[in-house]
Amino acid sequence: MSFLSSKKNWEGFAQNDPLWSICTNPLKKGGKWDLDEFFEMGKTEVDSMIGLLQEKNYLTAAQLKCLDFGCGVGRLSRALSNYFNEVVGLDVSATMIQKAKEFNKDFAQKLSFIHNESIDLLPFDDSSFDFVFSSIVLQHIPKPASINYINEFTRICKPDGLIVFQLPVEDIRKLSLLQQLQSKIKIRERLALLGLGSGFQMEMHTIPEEEVIRVIESANCQLLEILNTNHTDPSFDGEIIFNHETNLCFGYISELFIIRKKDASTQF
Ligand SMILES: C[S@@+](CC[C@H](N)C(=O)[O-])C[C@H]1O[C@@H](n2cnc3c(N)ncnc32)[C@H](O)[C@@H]1O
Repeated sequence: MSFLSSKKNWEGFAQNDPLWSICTNPLKKGGKWDLDEFFEMGKTEVDSMIGLLQEKNYLTAAQLKCLDFGCGVGRLSRALSNYFNEVVGLDVSATMIQKAKEFNKDFAQKLSFIHNESIDLLPFDDSSFDFVFSSIVLQHIPKPASINYINEFTRICKPDGLIVFQLPVEDIRKLSLLQQLQSKIKIRERLALLGLGSGFQMEMHTIPEEEVIRVIESANCQLLEILNTNHTDPSFDGEIIFNHETNLCFGYISELFIIRKKDASTQF
């Protein structure tokens, strides 16, 4: 799938069933998510992630400004605003951004949302965020664009700031070509049943761990830690399991990359 089709898909999802396209619990298909429950799930997820970063002393300096890349309707951005002075959510879909503004109008003091269709993060200056974050987003973006975004994360992060993102590094479904084709058809059928039409597909993309590390290291950043997570499990409900056993993964090995942008004066 091309970057252009991926953008169109997400706008289609956002217009048809935005909350379910973000958290695909089968019981919540067709607009059945309760908004409070949906945002509570985001709080659970952010609390446990920030808790881990604090416990490991990765989040020590003043954490003033945070980017939530691929924010959707702001499920995680809102929860991040409990920890940062300012949170900017960015998304490729205009409808997601419109809904993010609508659902989070009571939090507008700390939260803002930006629509960005470009493969770059040009709305942002170099070194403008203390914390750059992304969860369950890069997995839906074709690899060349994802790598470009990771490079952009390193550009817009301040020296000594933290970059944390999740992505799947391996597809372990071990499907035959025929099964892969059938699986794609099944996804299309499910979406058609939802009334999403045959044109929208929720594709998954992986980047091998060593490629991600190469990108990070060539961008003057230090990889602090990689943790296996359960983000790609079908039952994921915001309760992050860190160091998730690979043999318990369904379909994909998901990893959380924790990265520090080097300060020019820092010796690692
Ligand atoms: C599964 S949702 C996750 C939303 C949010 N991170 C959350 O966990 O609630 C994926 C989001 O990524 C957005 N997205 C997909 N491609 C993108 C891109 N190239 N740039 C920015 N956002 C993108 C989609 O529009 C969608 O809102």
